[in-house]
Amino acid sequence: MAFFPSWVCVLVGSFSASLAGISNLSDIEPPLWKESPGQLSDYRVENSMYIINPWVYLERMGMYKIILNQTARYFAKFAPENEQNILWGLPLQYGWQYRTGRLADPTRRTNCGYESGDHMCISVDSWWADLNYFLSSLPFLAAVDSGIMGISSDQVRLLPPPKNERKFCYDVSSCRSSFPETMNKWNTFYQYLQSPFSKFHDLLKYLWAAHTSTLADNIKSFEDRYDYYSKAEAHFERNWVLAVDHLAAVLFPTTLIRSYKFQKGMPPRILLNTDVAPFISDFTAFQNVVLVLLNMLGNVDKSIGYLCTEKSNVYRGRSESSSRSYGNNS
Ligand SMILES: *[C@@H]1O[C@H](CO)[C@@H](O)[C@H](O)[C@H]1NC(C)=O
Ligand SMILES: *[C@@H]1O[C@H](CO)[C@@H](O)[C@H](O)[C@H]1NC(C)=O
Repeated sequence: MAFFPSWVCVLVGSFSASLAGISNLSDIEPPLWKESPGQLSDYRVENSMYIINPWVYLERMGMYKIILNQTARYFAKFAPENEQNILWGLPLQYGWQYRTGRLADPTRRTNCGYESGDHMCISVDSWWADLNYFLSSLPFLAAVDSGIMGISSDQVRLLPPPKNERKFCYDVSSCRSSFPETMNKWNTFYQYLQSPFSKFHDLLKYLWAAHTSTLADNIKSFEDRYDYYSKAEAHFERNWVLAVDHLAAVLFPTTLIRSYKFQKGMPPRILLNTDVAPFISDFTAFQNVVLVLLNMLGNVDKSIGYLCTEKSNVYRGRSESSSRSYGNNS
């Protein structure tokens, strides 16, 4: 059974960073990227505080857009057009959640997130939306805290959801006190990012450390959400958490093109109980294979360890050559 992790290595290693088939980087940006706020002044200001409603698709996306914008200068040495910014993985994943209906109210008690209702609404009952809350607000608030945004730490406040307020934190100080270690990890990432000697491989290490710590802090709080989904989707959610650990272990480079290509393997809609991979007819072969692998992952004892951790050197080599091939293609 120990063969599984090496399959993860093969799978993630198979995404070339070449631009083949992508004529314009703006074609692979997440949904409504252009429409999202791109600077803090696009948000409401009250008593000289920026007020962000992360339960609205565009406003949450705007936090990512601002982080990507404000960190672009530190990634410019790796490739043009911010392509090698490893923070791209987060908004792309969030955009995938939106496009595939995963941010909508899974209980269907409200029309939050549905085409026919309030399609920009992000449901607090969505398991995906809840975990993404921490994967957007903590990186954003830590960026503010580490001085990257050029405002002071008490100048941003996020709005609470309509219920379950106590499950979330809303500003730098409350998130720091609820998640001290995780906030430190995000801060460490941003501190290192600002060093003129930052290395791509080490940036990935700090980013993935912060990412996995964020999930570890919060996964338990939202276990009640699994019940709102089909068994197949709930199973996928649990497996996805395991998969993220593996992606972290191999230091998957979450740059724009690689994240985009990886995402093509993700289920394009919420899973139904009638979906049996690899025979889901409206999924691509790649999407079917990824689901099969994820199901196997769920069945393998987690204690077997990560065989390809030592091989992360492979990725270091690849990412360097990928920036070159990107340069040649552009
Ligand atoms: C890419 O697309 C954007 C918007 O669609 C456009 O403004 C830009 O000029 C395009 N760039 C290239 C190099 O074609
Ligand atoms: C950052 O945002 C500013 C203002 O919206 C824009 O002029 C600039 O081109 C952006 N920079 C990058 C690298 O996206």
